[in-house]
Amino acid sequence: MSDANHRLMTRKADLGDTLRAAIPAGEALAEGEVLLALDRFSLTTNNITYAAYGDAIGYWKVFPTGEPDYGLMPVWGFADVTASRAGGVTEGARVFGYFPMADTLRVQADKVSRGGFADASPWRKAVPDIYNRYVLCAADRHYDPALENSEAIFRPLFVTSYTAVDFLRDAAFFGAKRIVVSSASSKTAYGAAWCLEQDDLEVVALTGARNRAFVEGLGCYDAVLDYDALETTAADVPTLYLDLAGDAALRRRVHAHFGDQLVYDCLVGSTQSDGFTADDPGLVGPRPIFFFAATCLDQHRERGTLHAFYERFLTDQKTFFRRVIDPASPWIRIVEHSGLGAAATVVRALADGVSDPAEGAIVRIVREG
Ligand SMILES: NC(=O)c1ccc[n+]([C@@H]2O[C@H](COP(=O)([O-])OP(=O)(O)OC[C@H]3O[C@@H](n4cnc5c(N)ncnc54)[C@H](OP(=O)(O)O)[C@@H]3O)[C@@H](O)[C@H]2O)c1
Repeated sequence: MSDANHRLMTRKADLGDTLRAAIPAGEALAEGEVLLALDRFSLTTNNITYAAYGDAIGYWKVFPTGEPDYGLMPVWGFADVTASRAGGVTEGARVFGYFPMADTLRVQADKVSRGGFADASPWRKAVPDIYNRYVLCAADRHYDPALENSEAIFRPLFVTSYTAVDFLRDAAFFGAKRIVVSSASSKTAYGAAWCLEQDDLEVVALTGARNRAFVEGLGCYDAVLDYDALETTAADVPTLYLDLAGDAALRRRVHAHFGDQLVYDCLVGSTQSDGFTADDPGLVGPRPIFFFAATCLDQHRERGTLHAFYERFLTDQKTFFRRVIDPASPWIRIVEHSGLGAAATVVRALADGVSDPAEGAIVRIVREG
């Protein structure tokens, strides 16, 4: 089935439920506008979290649907410029950025530079700048067409893994000698574990029984525990909690078990919750502090260190992309799914928490047939 002129909307009341529908007809491109044809995009739990925080953080506003019960879940991917009325943005250019699951996206090009442009559509002000920027691949010296799939999957996640570890390292890990990581099978979690490989810390993975073998196979954690086995870890060294699960009950157990030894609670993700659960008056120990990669990048910009940060980050990121798909011992296998209909099935599995962490999902838009 062709995806031409179609989009996949998400029912806000059930994030696994999608509706494939025609994109409403629009006017001809106005001055400054660019039409982007999405080619490939990734789907991970992070996209479900965008939808879960659709109202709280404003992700539903980024790509308005005009339908109150449905939103367009944002995804990251590669697209081609198929029409342009913006100076400096040429037809045929390949871009990386933030998209709805849709055949095409019309943007209002602004801040056009050699490296890319931003969408200045007023509704996009709901989210930080990094979500509104389109990178021109031809000007990105780290771009490698052969790595597009791993880039689509890991680029939006690894920046968080990397900046979170940077932030913690700058703070001397708050004195911790051990980091306990929840939802350790998630890509954001093991990206952080990879970044921590040279640090003098014990990195302990917490994961579901179903995903334990996968996490052990990664080899980037010093120990791997089922959630049920948390209390078997000795609580004798200063410990930092890197929380990707966002599970309030698990957090209470972590805090109760490590007690005075828990030095910091870094809340990064919420794979197992669909709301902000950091405020818990009954929690013992340090208050969870939410970590947001975009804030970290904004701070680099304010301090004038953004360029230096990106130089280091992009080099390390490429090494990581290559590591995850290293043919000798790949951490994941990338599976390409064809069309928005297939995307609906992937979204359902992600929302239900039954997807296989050993698989990285890419969706290709289908235009012929
Ligand atoms: N703060 C930020 O700036 C930022 C940036 C990027 C990502 N994140 C967050 O990091 C988290 C991980 O994202 P990801 O894309 O890396 O995930 P992913 O690779 O798709 O990870 C999937 C894992 O999450 C757990 N999980 C997912 N859905 C679940 C469910 N319904 N019930 C129970 N467990 C579930 C399972 O791990 P276990 O069995 O190991 O628990 C599963 O293997 C997301 O919440 C994402 O939004 C935050």
